[in-house]
Amino acid sequence: MGLNYYQIKKNILRARKLVIKGTNAAGSGHPGGSFSMAEILGCLFNKHLKFDAKNPQWEDRDRLVLSKGHAAPGLFSNMAVAGYFPESEIETLRKFGSKLQGHPDLKCPGVEFCGGSLGTGLSYSVGIALAAKIDSKDHHVYTIIGDGESDEGQVWEAAMTASKYKVDNLTAFLDRNFIQQDSYTEKIMPLDEKLEGDDITEMWKDASRWKTGDKWRSFGWNVLEIDGHRVEQIDAAITKANATKGVPTIIISRTIKGKSLEHMEDNPQWHGKAPDSDIVPIINSELDSQFLIAPSIIAGDMSNLENEVKRCVTGRSDLIHLDVMDGQFVPTKTFDHNKIKELRPLTVLPFDTHLMINEPVKYVQNYIDAGSDIVTVHAEVTNESSFGEIHDLLKQHQVGVGFAINPDTELPEWSYKFLSTLDQLIVMSVVPGKSGQKYIEETHAKMTRLNSTLNEHNFSGCIEADGGVNIDNIGSVFADGARAFVGGGAIVGQQDVRSAIKDFRNAVLKSRRRMLLDKANQLGGSELVNKWIGLHVIGAKQEEIKKIAQESGYL
Ligand code: DX5
Ligand code: ZN
Repeated sequence: MGLNYYQIKKNILRARKLVIKGTNAAGSGHPGGSFSMAEILGCLFNKHLKFDAKNPQWEDRDRLVLSKGHAAPGLFSNMAVAGYFPESEIETLRKFGSKLQGHPDLKCPGVEFCGGSLGTGLSYSVGIALAAKIDSKDHHVYTIIGDGESDEGQVWEAAMTASKYKVDNLTAFLDRNFIQQDSYTEKIMPLDEKLEGDDITEMWKDASRWKTGDKWRSFGWNVLEIDGHRVEQIDAAITKANATKGVPTIIISRTIKGKSLEHMEDNPQWHGKAPDSDIVPIINSELDSQFLIAPSIIAGDMSNLENEVKRCVTGRSDLIHLDVMDGQFVPTKTFDHNKIKELRPLTVLPFDTHLMINEPVKYVQNYIDAGSDIVTVHAEVTNESSFGEIHDLLKQHQVGVGFAINPDTELPEWSYKFLSTLDQLIVMSVVPGKSGQKYIEETHAKMTRLNSTLNEHNFSGCIEADGGVNIDNIGSVFADGARAFVGGGAIVGQQDVRSAIKDFRNAVLKSRRRMLLDKANQLGGSELVNKWIGLHVIGAKQEEIKKIAQESGYL
């Protein structure tokens, strides 16, 4: 058990799509809170939770308690992806006679707790965790509570009890999305520092104001604070929690209600409301268009790569792209697995190792051992047999499998059979060897050709654009189909990595908004375009999207 980074992300996406499908079919339900905890449940189901979907009552299973029971579509979707029941069953959500009701119910095998009356899940969890201890069982209890339900006194009674009885086989997650049924938590019953001013959505971006952890600490809990949408942070926090003995742990996860869909994000309206059918296809395109920024550290100071990694971390990159060059496959030499091993303790960010070396099959194990999360090897130095070996080895170690092609290389026919299980395809847009080169324009046309081959062979991985990507071309590279973007000169080569990454994200966002408007126009003309724009009510989004629609001639 335990999937690689891209596979976990893929399953999270699948689950999100099922939430949309289910709530749309039901005409009601809670997508907002299902999406804020999507990564938390994704990490649990795909990596940490011990369960047997075919034998839901297996005695030694871990217990997952969804105290914020209204987010049931999120739980059911993960259960469907995990194989408890067919994914199509999600369409029976909230229907009379279905086992998938608006709140989790024990009539759905695998559900541990009837969450409905909020505030009670933690008490129940303390009970079953204590029972496990008394029975000398070593299973773990994971509980998801909401910040809205933290208004209930019972939550704090449970907190005291857990700490008194040293219930260390219990890990709670606080899905801290700052929104409860009718409004922002801080307006209804503040958990953090009192907010002055009106711009409440800005508040939770300022970490210095997060005080909820202090409350839990004062109740005797081990407190970990993370970004609840970062798979690698959740993963590391669960591992830490499981290693902490003598006290219960709470992982305070800063999340965004409705995360992944711009019109739902931070919007209290989407606490409990279903998306309309005409909007669903646009939503699905948006879900399919999540993207990653991967700075390449070789564009920085090669004599202090530690510092370059730190700059990427504070810059909030998604991956760290590690360009390994051997002086043979490419004329330059950079570093090898030994350096990666040295860098590994600096961050939990996924290491995206790009091997520009001869005979990668001989060395790939070193890069697994060094702590790579994704390893990419080149088509020019592999064949069906050696790549097969690399592919299997990486899969076996839960490391993402990447394949790269140079500007002059077409996807070799022998590679087609691997496409459906490939995690990443790097399409080089410069001749590899150094950073700071100019993007080769022909790559756009190549991407069009590639997309049809990839579709034909059921590629469901991520296309990573590598070489000469910058703020001016990233929008069109996204439109070509790339979903991960390497940035050497344009990110690490800049003084302010954080703002360079921010600019990259904004440029992709703009291109994505344009793509979604195109889709709305295609499907329903100006009426649907207007409806789509009208959904974006939070912040300045609406005006920005309107402007793009005008530029595209839709308004
Ligand atoms: C090319 C490397 C790239 C490159 C990226 O040989 O694989 O990762 O360094 O740097 P820029 O973005 O500057 O082209
Ligand atoms: Zn690279």
